[in-house]
Amino acid sequence: MGDLFWNKVAGVLIAGILIVLVIKELGHLVVPTHAAHELDEHNTAYPVDWAAIGGDAADAGPVEAPAVDYGVLLAAADVSRGESAIRQCSSCHTFADGDAHSTGPNLWGIVDRDIGSADNYAYSAVLTDLEGGWDYAALNEFLAAPRAYAPGTAMSFAGVRSESTRMNIIAYLRSLSANPAPLPAPLAEMAEAAPAEMPEAAPAEMPEEAPAEGGDN
Ligand code: HEC
Repeated sequence: MGDLFWNKVAGVLIAGILIVLVIKELGHLVVPTHAAHELDEHNTAYPVDWAAIGGDAADAGPVEAPAVDYGVLLAAADVSRGESAIRQCSSCHTFADGDAHSTGPNLWGIVDRDIGSADNYAYSAVLTDLEGGWDYAALNEFLAAPRAYAPGTAMSFAGVRSESTRMNIIAYLRSLSANPAPLPAPLAEMAEAAPAEMPEAAPAEMPEEAPAEGGDN
């Protein structure tokens, strides 16, 4: 090791530090910076097109999975198309009031009927074990994928893939009743009737001093 070894090491280190500092300053020259307290919606760290993303950032509500709006979908459904679409069910189901069961149960009055409750029909245990009635959501999910909704069901039918076809079918099934079940209100109207409470982002409740509680340890 020569006499100048440590000088060289120091030289390399200092040169490295200088390069980092220079790059940092160059960065500031290229992108003007603002102190954090100077930043607001008009003066952001990078340009934001507020109009394009729907204006005021504060208006943005929480992001939720879109709920299926049966009020809107069923209002737009076509009963006569549903009547054509149930041809794919009629190899196993009858639909008229008082018809005998076939491979599957008669479906007159199925909307809001208890699941697995037709008289004189031998359901699989899977179906009789399902709680509740055939409301619009249950029918929609069952008809989309019967074996996913009721694993082991005796209904050997792949399901109806198209949502609009399912809605037409459900609208037709709804008509098979002396007293058709009411159509649900569209979600937007329900929201107007009972505005969802949207608290301002509440700060995490963290009392600075935990109240001393009883306990003498
Ligand atoms: C291959 C025969 C077959 C086809 C096709 C079929 N189903 Fe079924 N379906 C059945 C059987 C069998 C059951 C009883 C299932 C069980 O007990 O697990 C059933 C049950 C049902 C139920 C539940 C009835 C209740 O009383 O709880 C509904 C609703 C239903 N089917 C609707 C339909 C619709 C709508 C279609 C057409 C889009 C269809 N099914 C096509 C055989 C079929």
